[in-house]
Amino acid sequence: MTDQRSDAAQADALRAALTRHLVAEGTIRDERVAAAFAAVPRHLFVPQSSLDIAYADDVVLMKRNAAGVVISSVSQPSIVALMLEQADVRPGDRVLEIGSGGYNAALLRELAGPKGAVTTVDIDPEVTDRARVVLDDAGYGDVRVVEADGEFGVPEDAPYDRIVVTVTAWDIAPAWSDQLGAGGRIVVPLRLRGQTRSIAFDRVDEHLESRSTTPCGFVSMQGAGANYERLISIWGDAASVSFDEDQVPEEHPFDGVLDQPREQVWSGVVVNREEQLSDLQLWLASTLPGYCVLSAERSLQEEGVVTPSPHWGAAAVATGDSVAYLTSCPARRRPESHMELGVNGHGPDADDLIDRLIDQVRIWNRRLRHGPGPRYRIDAAGTELPAGFHIDRRHSSVTVNWPE
Ligand SMILES: C[S@@+](CC[C@H](N)C(=O)[O-])C[C@H]1O[C@@H](n2cnc3c(N)ncnc32)[C@H](O)[C@@H]1O
Repeated sequence: MTDQRSDAAQADALRAALTRHLVAEGTIRDERVAAAFAAVPRHLFVPQSSLDIAYADDVVLMKRNAAGVVISSVSQPSIVALMLEQADVRPGDRVLEIGSGGYNAALLRELAGPKGAVTTVDIDPEVTDRARVVLDDAGYGDVRVVEADGEFGVPEDAPYDRIVVTVTAWDIAPAWSDQLGAGGRIVVPLRLRGQTRSIAFDRVDEHLESRSTTPCGFVSMQGAGANYERLISIWGDAASVSFDEDQVPEEHPFDGVLDQPREQVWSGVVVNREEQLSDLQLWLASTLPGYCVLSAERSLQEEGVVTPSPHWGAAAVATGDSVAYLTSCPARRRPESHMELGVNGHGPDADDLIDRLIDQVRIWNRRLRHGPGPRYRIDAAGTELPAGFHIDRRHSSVTVNWPE
């Protein structure tokens, strides 16, 4: 009994500390989100973990597939908080969560209040069974848990004021737009050209317009909405370039292109190591035909086959026989905190590809780096699109625009 009491007191203290930390670092700004974090006992949603792990600002991995890839997790509190800030759930809202775990559904339940309603859907029966048990144990028995492919939403509880997707999506499924009520908002980790950002979209007439974005990482969607990326080996199993489904070229670099002599050019553009470069990557994707993302095992860095990129998954461009990719090295001034961006190239077109990448890195640096970042708009596939950079998905088109 005494042990149980002291565990409960410790959980309360750790939860309060986690909430204070998220407020202090500016991740939580809305006091209603802070109150929800202070109220929901996260340890009950990860009963296999110690209290310290339950209240660390870290993801708790729940399940891997046969290949060892994580397919289910209880998300990292700071990502959950950022997405709840984006969602701006109001008392009385009807909310759909896609991808269950229990914890975020409980937070949504707190935010929607007694007059609201929360439905959470997961494709994996193991996840929904567990979510049902932990939600009941934590006192959130009125969250509806549904086992289904979230690609199709949950029509019987629609329309929703808010849809919060907690799994990486490549597209906005038609069901999500259809089930979103007038004035509704959808928050979704959308993967575009190899990077994922959580985007809050508001319904505006027949289309969706972005209101805020934040970089994030989630497990990949399974089911009907899966598999939008194509990997092409360029060094056996150890390095590949990936293209989105809508941009796989007929000709792509051959396996072994990294064996060709390396050309290297530095851009003079220096960035802080902490700086988010996902907008730079999307700018390169918007402006360079043949854009792809190069990934390589760490051992290739150690062997000197590739040099480090500023992020895992380097922005790259490829032609039929050549590839060039973004790299970085410690900056001459403040090398401990800053790096210079450069480009490596291999193959007969290397010089041309390098020039094109370097030009766009410099343009981004001059015109866009300190701007508000891109805006996104979603229209149904096949409709007339506004001006901008278009990414065609199976069901929708994403238009990206860059206010300077
Ligand atoms: C990151 S976890 C969700 C975390 C959760 N929201 C929480 O409270 O921490 C992602 C979940 O999405 C689920 N998922 C993957 N594809 C799905 C789909 N098509 N429909 C519904 N759920 C899906 C996975 O089974 C996994 O449990």
